[in-house]
Amino acid sequence: MHRSSVLDAYVAGSGAEKGETDDVGAAAARPVAGATPPQSPSAAGNEGLEDAQADKDELWNASAGPTQVQSIPSHAPVEPAAEAPPGPNRTGDPTPPPARRPRVLLAVTGSVAAIKTAQLATYLLAFAEVKVAVTRGARAFLEGLELPGSCLPLLDDEGEWRAWHGVGDPVLHIELRRWADVLIIAPLSANTLAKLAAGLCDNLVTCVARAWDFRKPVLLAPAMNTLMWDSPFTARHMHACAGLGMHSIGPIAKRLACGDDGTGAMAEPADIADRGRALLGA
Ligand SMILES: Cc1cc2nc3c(=O)[nH]c(=O)nc-3n(C[C@H](O)[C@H](O)[C@H](O)COP(=O)(O)O)c2cc1C
Repeated sequence: MHRSSVLDAYVAGSGAEKGETDDVGAAAARPVAGATPPQSPSAAGNEGLEDAQADKDELWNASAGPTQVQSIPSHAPVEPAAEAPPGPNRTGDPTPPPARRPRVLLAVTGSVAAIKTAQLATYLLAFAEVKVAVTRGARAFLEGLELPGSCLPLLDDEGEWRAWHGVGDPVLHIELRRWADVLIIAPLSANTLAKLAAGLCDNLVTCVARAWDFRKPVLLAPAMNTLMWDSPFTARHMHACAGLGMHSIGPIAKRLACGDDGTGAMAEPADIADRGRALLGA
């Protein structure tokens, strides 16, 4: 991995509400399965992008985690990327650079709603490139599930170290922050919510969030037991995250996987994807 070319490439290309459930049926289905302001995705140039893509693929693959998920083709229709607005490229040439698709970093944490990752990723793939970062707590829910192949490999804590061998090597959470146009944390567990609110960063997902450039959007989709959701801690933590400029799509009410009835289930994947798309202006 050549850090300089990765970084050059990024320069060239860079760019509480309440509301579901992880219903019993869904749970039962599990076995089946810098200084420069960020550019809008469509305004990014493509100089060196092929080399950059190769370098990035090398990084993502080097970071691949052990979670066993199956690859399925994306059934989502792939829409053409929006046309880039005219503007100067890096060389000052007024020719508009070719557009690229928006980039979504989907972070999955340890809630039962993680079993909906394939569904959410498929909706996101309809308009964006998608990478999936997982916490240790999310892994158990993802084991054995099928995910769209273009989202793989899953990126996890150990991947940080698989990709880094010494000074000069790229740092996964920083590269992901640079790569992504939006960070969507869905489902967001009570634990990770608390960490975000407090600025803790002890795993890949929270390190990306802690290193986030808040000129780019973050969308939170909490999912937890009703009493966890109703806890005063949750209101405090959601308030802190909103104060940082993070957006949220609240959980919905239904019978939860744990058997309780009430608010706490993750918002519907289609609604989360729509919200992410709107935040990207895509
Ligand atoms: C079967 C099971 C289901 C769980 N579901 C949830 C949940 O829906 N929401 C939540 O916040 N925590 C849930 N937890 C607890 C989290 O997995 C736990 O707090 C974990 O430490 C979260 O780690 P993470 O935030 O790093 O992903 C569940 C735990 C288990 C064992």
